[in-house]
Amino acid sequence: MQKLEQIYEGKAKRVYNTNDPDYCIVSYKDDATAFNGLKRGTIVGKGVINNRMSNSMMLLLEEKGVPTHFVEELNERETLVRRVSIIPLEVIVRNIAAGSFSRRYGVAEGVVFNEPTVEFSYKNDALGDPLLNDDHALALGLATREEMELIRTYALRIDGIMQGFWDECGITLVDFKLEFGRLPDGTIILADEISPDTCRLWDTATGQKLDKDRFRRDLGSVEEAYAEIMRRLLEHEEQ
Ligand code: TMP
Repeated sequence: MQKLEQIYEGKAKRVYNTNDPDYCIVSYKDDATAFNGLKRGTIVGKGVINNRMSNSMMLLLEEKGVPTHFVEELNERETLVRRVSIIPLEVIVRNIAAGSFSRRYGVAEGVVFNEPTVEFSYKNDALGDPLLNDDHALALGLATREEMELIRTYALRIDGIMQGFWDECGITLVDFKLEFGRLPDGTIILADEISPDTCRLWDTATGQKLDKDRFRRDLGSVEEAYAEIMRRLLEHEEQ
């Protein structure tokens, strides 16, 4: 597949056309932003780690029957994916209270939920990604009720699969954000990325944060945290 012109540049990735209209190439950058782009920085090596983790997760999910955009890793930073039209929803699954949930509802970080919580935000930077429910998504024409139900089902299945994987690595999957897209025939598949940028990952033994919160909150050892996630991932894959 031939890499053609850039069609999009996001905060952490670039997307390129290919010579086949059904496929794109994503390229992961080391750039990091937080608070809707207000905070900016670089996490050296992040692009390589995010590309690798995302591809490992998507491969695992595909094996377990969740359709994803993943096609083939091309090199350290670039992956061939199926072209989708992104549904402007941030689908967040939480197993443990943290971040905006803790702030919004006054619950201490680390409180373990009895069952996972799925929440949706409207992916719209100008509006600050406001929280929304199924009815809001319908009113905005983002998805049908059946599609919202399917997305929720996939999100919970993904949570179960990824919790199992990270548990075997000594990592607690606290929460994560997903994005879904539509193929030309309307089929909904998982898209975007799954990485330490989009997940909260805590060392189960020590409670240490090994994700982008180290950058968001100026906790230091940001590169080391990403490298540790990469190390656990590779160790798991060698087994
Ligand atoms: P939150 O607690 O800040 O709402 O974040 C929930 C999860 O979503 C967390 O794992 C980080 C991830 N996330 C993103 O991937 N992108 C974002 O823009 C935000 C705010 C969170």
